[in-house]
This record gives sequence, C-alpha cells and structure tokens, in this order.
Amino acid sequence: MNCLLDVLTQKKKTERIPIWFMRQAGRCLPEYREIRSQYKHFMDFIRSPKDAARVTLQPLKRFDLDAAIIFSDILIIPFALGQKVTFEAGEGPRLDPIMTLEDLSLETLQNGIAPTLETLANVKAQLPRDIALIGFAGAPWTVLTYMIEGGSSKDFSQTLKMYYTQLQLFRNLLEMVEQATVIYLKEQIKAGAEVLQIFDSWAGSVPHALFDELVVDPQMRIIQELKRDHPDIPLISFPRGIGEKLSYFTVRCQPDAISLDSMRSLIQLEGVVIQGGIDPAVVVAGGGAMYKQVEEVLEFYKNNPYIVNLGHGIQQQTPIEHIEELISYARSYKG
Ligand code: CP3
Repeated sequence: MNCLLDVLTQKKKTERIPIWFMRQAGRCLPEYREIRSQYKHFMDFIRSPKDAARVTLQPLKRFDLDAAIIFSDILIIPFALGQKVTFEAGEGPRLDPIMTLEDLSLETLQNGIAPTLETLANVKAQLPRDIALIGFAGAPWTVLTYMIEGGSSKDFSQTLKMYYTQLQLFRNLLEMVEQATVIYLKEQIKAGAEVLQIFDSWAGSVPHALFDELVVDPQMRIIQELKRDHPDIPLISFPRGIGEKLSYFTVRCQPDAISLDSMRSLIQLEGVVIQGGIDPAVVVAGGGAMYKQVEEVLEFYKNNPYIVNLGHGIQQQTPIEHIEELISYARSYKG
C-alpha cells in the first residue's frame, strides 16, 4: 500500500506523511529541460507516451516522494475536442478562440486523449507499488477560460461576456467540457490512475453570483459521477483562490481532499483531508523562511490527516536543494 492512498481512503494520519508536489516534473529539473529541448512543440511532447512517462518518473528518482503525477496538461481537453492549442515560448498557451459549438466535437475525444492514457499505462508498468499514480484534469470553468479567451487572462472578460450575452452557447460549451472531463477521468482510472486531482486554478475569479453555476455545480456533478462508478478512487479538488467559500464548496462537492492555495489561512475541514498550503515562493527562498513556514503548517495539521504539497505549482527558479530540504524536514518532523 501507499501512504497517500491510505490517508485519502481512511482520512486518518499515517505513520509516514504523504508528500508530492504540483508541477514536480518540469522546468526546475535539468533532466526535464534536456528532454523538453528535443521538442519544438509542447503539445507534441506531452503526447509522446514514452517521453511523457520518462518525465513523469524523473522527480521520483531524485526526491523521496509518495506519488507520481502524470505528465500532461489540462489543455489536452480543448485539443481533443478539436481546438487548436499551441504553447509559444515565454508566452504560455495560445488557442484559436471558440466562436460556435460546431467548432468542437466529442467524436475526436478518444483519439485526442489516447496518448495520455498510454503514458499512464507506461508509468504504471514501471512504478514501484509504494508510489501512487495521480491522474488529473482541469475543472470546466478553468478550462473554458482558456478556450474562450484564447489563452491566459487576467480578468476573464471574454469568458464572462459570453456568459452574459450568449448564455446558451456558454452553457453548451460548459456542458461539453464537463462531459469530456468525466469521460477523460474515467479513462484515466482504467489506464491505471489511482488518485485524481481536479485543478480549478481560476475558481477564485468567478463572480459571487455565478459561483454555484460555474464552480460548485460542475465539480459536484463530476465528483458524483466518478464516485458512482469508482467509489474507491480518491478525488482531490483544488479550487484555487475561493477563500471563505471553501467550507461551502467542500460540503457541496464532497471531494476526499482539498488542496489549499497559499492565499487563505490554514483551515481544518470535517471529513476532508487537507493538502498543500505552503507558499511556492517560500521554497524558492529556502532557508529559515521556508523551515519556519513548513513547521507552522505541519504543527497546525499535526493531529489531522495532511498531505505535504504547495499552494500552487513549483516555480521554475526553485533550487533543487530547497525541495530536498523541505522533504527531509517534513520526513523527520515529529511535532
Ligand atoms: O504537475 C505536474 O507535474 C504534471 C503536469 C502538469 C502540467 N500542467 C505540465 C506543464 C499539470 C498538472 C498542469 C496543469 C495545468 N496546466 C494547470 C492547472 C494548474 C496550475 O498551474 O494552475 C493550468 C492552468 C495549465 C495550463 C498551462 N500549461 C499554462 C498556463 C502553461 C504555460 C505557463 C507555464 O507554467 O509554463 C502550461 C505549460 C506547462 N504545463 C508546462 C508544464 C511542465 C511548461 C511548458 C514548458 O516546459 O515549456
């Protein structure tokens, strides 16, 4: 068994504290950059099952971690629905904005997600039994912002404008992304994922009046649907930036764990495992500042099930030694 799976299924503290990091595979590792440099297009890289599997396993060779997260991206769903997705160096993702529902089709979904499912199977075949395999998808709201804006955005003005002026189109798109996400996550389980995380990175930017419709309801339906078919697969939700709405979100959506961002204060939630919360910037800084914050977090959760992780992905400029130091500090922490 594995301590991450134990904590998530039993909702109790384990002897060994589970540790993994969002974006643990990636640009802070030289061995990642080496493989990355062989690809012009990031989408080609993540859709190469052999190299994506290699990169998924890289951080486990270096660090004493309890889980591997599959190397892919949340924008695989728009890509698989037929939208053009590219990543320009230094600029982030670029998508051809969606104008009508006819721009997309669920018929191309299976083909589009197939390479990622193959990556999962590859990783699973190589992974030691005591390391858990995490699959993931973006939440519909977050994925839809990229699809409608055509890339990253600060204020989501195009997305909200579509909601207010073309509500039916917006709802149809949301429904299509939600359906695709459910299919995709179920396929990930079949391919070997043992835990799933749903990334709602922009949940905190949804206007209060639309919060239920755009954040709570889609994730609630996705979680219910997955639990119905796969009651034993734990689900972690990352509704980033929702602040005081976190308890309400948790009661409505019922994930097994909540991944905390580092904007809000630490919180205990009844019946739910807490993950994360450590500021990615403090791991860039390292030293006393990092130890102080990690100690505070571990102390706060010392009597509750907790998964060591950050409040968002590891930053590119994070020194590798800081990650090692964080892990060994958490491993030896006795409270
Ligand atoms: O966590 C992991 O190690 C698994 C792989 C993973 C990636 N993206 C690889 C990636 C995961 C879980 C994601 C999720 C993701 N992708 C999110 C949700 C989490 C979050 O960070 O908020 C979002 C919003 C995206 C969309 C995305 N992908 C953006 C905006 C960008 C460009 C900005 C950036 O960080 O580079 C990406 C590219 C991306 N996805 C990279 C990686 C390793 C960097 C690409 C490169 O190496 O050039």
